[in-house]
Amino acid sequence: MAKNLTNKKLAVLTSGGDASGMNAAIRTVLRFAMANGYEVYGVKHGYKGLVNDEIFKMEYKSVSNTVHTGGTILRTSRCPEFKDPEVHIKAAKNLLDKGIENLIVIGGDGSFHGVEALHEHTELNVIGIPGTIDNDMGYTDSTIGFDTACNTVIDAILKLRDTITSHDRIMILEVMGRECGNIAVNSAIAGGAEYVIVPEANPVDPKVIAESVRVGFEEKGKTSTIILLAEGVNYLKDPLLEEIAKATGRRVNHMALGYMQRGGNPTMADRVLAARMAQRAVELIMCGQSGRVVGIRGGDIYDTTVLEALKIPKEFDEKLYDLAKVISK
Ligand code: ADP
Ligand code: F6P
Repeated sequence: MAKNLTNKKLAVLTSGGDASGMNAAIRTVLRFAMANGYEVYGVKHGYKGLVNDEIFKMEYKSVSNTVHTGGTILRTSRCPEFKDPEVHIKAAKNLLDKGIENLIVIGGDGSFHGVEALHEHTELNVIGIPGTIDNDMGYTDSTIGFDTACNTVIDAILKLRDTITSHDRIMILEVMGRECGNIAVNSAIAGGAEYVIVPEANPVDPKVIAESVRVGFEEKGKTSTIILLAEGVNYLKDPLLEEIAKATGRRVNHMALGYMQRGGNPTMADRVLAARMAQRAVELIMCGQSGRVVGIRGGDIYDTTVLEALKIPKEFDEKLYDLAKVISK
């Protein structure tokens, strides 16, 4: 929806879980907008900073030497109070009082609810860019940070393989993704993990997994086994530890890779995805658009309404999951 506001000032913020590549997105928002005659303002600490008026003017060099860095130079926050419509009005006023009528939000599905709220309840033009390692939004094939997070998991698998092979052991590696198994499935295939357990393919019987692990060691000559466990089904950790130890008589360890998956230098894929999405977001602002989010489908950058984006469930790639099961053991 276009609100036909025409002034050439825009603000950008990062919200929710940080993701590697967010700085590449901020950099393109700034440089592409300035190249089109816009003044660009940064908002520190996500929606919390918007409420607290942590708004500052950015310069061309504000993003120098940041394209390769993880995290977000604008900082981020989780701000539960932002669910209150009164807060949306106050937050928007902090921008509008400065003559800033346009806002780009880089964040996940939670942040997109904030995009919708600001679009609906205020005079701002608001556009969203999907920045989250989870890749858990159905309207887009990928999100900024997902590729880098998977490469961090793959590196961990490589390092773990060295040590568990040295001891003929089994490792349960828990990975992030909230209720989505995309980090686990893609990393399992690329990293060569023997098993991957995800929320979308439940229930899983720990006894069946344990017996398969035993056969791998005793009949297929395996000298190590890695099981990727998505955090959305991490309640299976203890039953798996118990059943596999019982079935194999071997040491079974568990580690949660945790916040390592949120940092690190973004991959080329995430930096280019971030730049392409950020360009589209600025172009939408330049056309006076609002309440829309940028996505990627079949390699093409596109945009849709934030309401539509939030409605589409993330489709589970059964084919990819089945491939992971076939090629890994
Ligand atoms: P992510 O954007 O990575 O999914 P969160 O789920 O924490 O992270 O959402 C980020 C922020 O978005 C929240 O801290 C809150 O400020 C805002 N937000 C989340 N849900 C809503 C909502 N329903 N309405 C308005 N703002 C919301
Ligand atoms: O949404 C990104 C994410 O890293 C999830 O994968 C993870 O479950 C969650 O954030 C952790 O939230 P927090 O940073 O608030 O601990």
